[in-house]
Amino acid sequence: MTRSDINAVEVRGLVKHYGETKALDGVDLDVRQGTVLGVLGPNGAGKTTLVRCLSTLIAPDAGTATVAGYDVVRQPRQLRRTIGLTGQYASVDEKLSGWENLYMIGRLLDLSRAEARRRADELLERFSLTDAAKKPAGQYSGGMRRRLDLAASMIGRPAVLYLDEPTTGLDPRTRNEVWDEVRRMVGEGMTVLLTTQYMEEAEQLAHELTVIDRGRVIASGAVDELKAKVGGRTLQVRPSDPALLDEMARTLTESGLTGLAGATAVPAEGQLYVPILSDEQLTAVVGLLSERGFGIAHIGTHLPSLDEVFLAITGQKAPATEPGPESAGPAGSATTSEEIAA
Ligand SMILES: Nc1ncnc2c1ncn2[C@@H]1O[C@H](COP(=O)(O)OP(=O)(O)O)[C@@H](O)[C@H]1O
Ligand SMILES: [Mg+2]
Repeated sequence: MTRSDINAVEVRGLVKHYGETKALDGVDLDVRQGTVLGVLGPNGAGKTTLVRCLSTLIAPDAGTATVAGYDVVRQPRQLRRTIGLTGQYASVDEKLSGWENLYMIGRLLDLSRAEARRRADELLERFSLTDAAKKPAGQYSGGMRRRLDLAASMIGRPAVLYLDEPTTGLDPRTRNEVWDEVRRMVGEGMTVLLTTQYMEEAEQLAHELTVIDRGRVIASGAVDELKAKVGGRTLQVRPSDPALLDEMARTLTESGLTGLAGATAVPAEGQLYVPILSDEQLTAVVGLLSERGFGIAHIGTHLPSLDEVFLAITGQKAPATEPGPESAGPAGSATTSEEIAA
């Protein structure tokens, strides 16, 4: 399978209400075969409800959804055979070893003993867990657990994989490990529907994005389009000499490199903020500053947070997230600051 115009997942007018709560309130989305669709939304937006409907775990109240051409309501059994699911909470049995977990799932999926054994070995190797194969999963680190979870979802050789907040609550290094695995699977032709609360995760992995809030799609499109809407990244620069802040801002704004918004000096922070829309622009801005002889103490880029995306799209602040286990992740931290120089 390669990237194509064929939709692996098609959702039209999907509705699921729980009493007064409109968990899904008429959702439309497509996932093109061989691509990653990021479903971005705050806690309570309806992401897990969507994944559960698309996994046939719950029945929608209205609307239609097909996966690989199979209807979620009329062809649940065929549909289940084409999908893999990795949730926010690892579904592995802690008392069993990594190998036993995979073997057991293989047997549940009707593989013969020999096949289940082979598949367990193969997937442990693939997800770099061979050394830990015999250890109880309860002793695995967070990253190993998530890799075992991914391996488990791959046993049935799914054509479409759902990743429901696969890195919520993980530390940045483990998060990167999971991202690498996901990229590798996509490189091999997997179609992925990924839900996330993190703009950065969507940017790292998704080809297209659907932003949902309170069961409704509030924006969708290519990641670059949505980023352009919210102004892409922001460059923060701290000059070695704070007295030069204004001059630096003026230099950049006058150069025309910063677009209409210009550079903003924030004297209280001793920093300058520059909206960045492309890597070329970033390089040019940094180049100009050093060419003009400005000393730089610190420089970093900052992605728009989910809150900023919401603000840009809806003109409203994102709804506060409910406290609970789901918000155990670094709340409101879709914003990251990656240092690119010191
Ligand atoms: N089984 C359920 N019973 C009642 N309300 C539910 C149930 N599942 C989800 N909800 C509600 O539906 C909304 C969407 O939940 P969910 O799909 O879990 O959101 P997300 O995964 O985006 O955080 C929330 O308000 C949640 O409280
Ligand atoms: Mg959820």
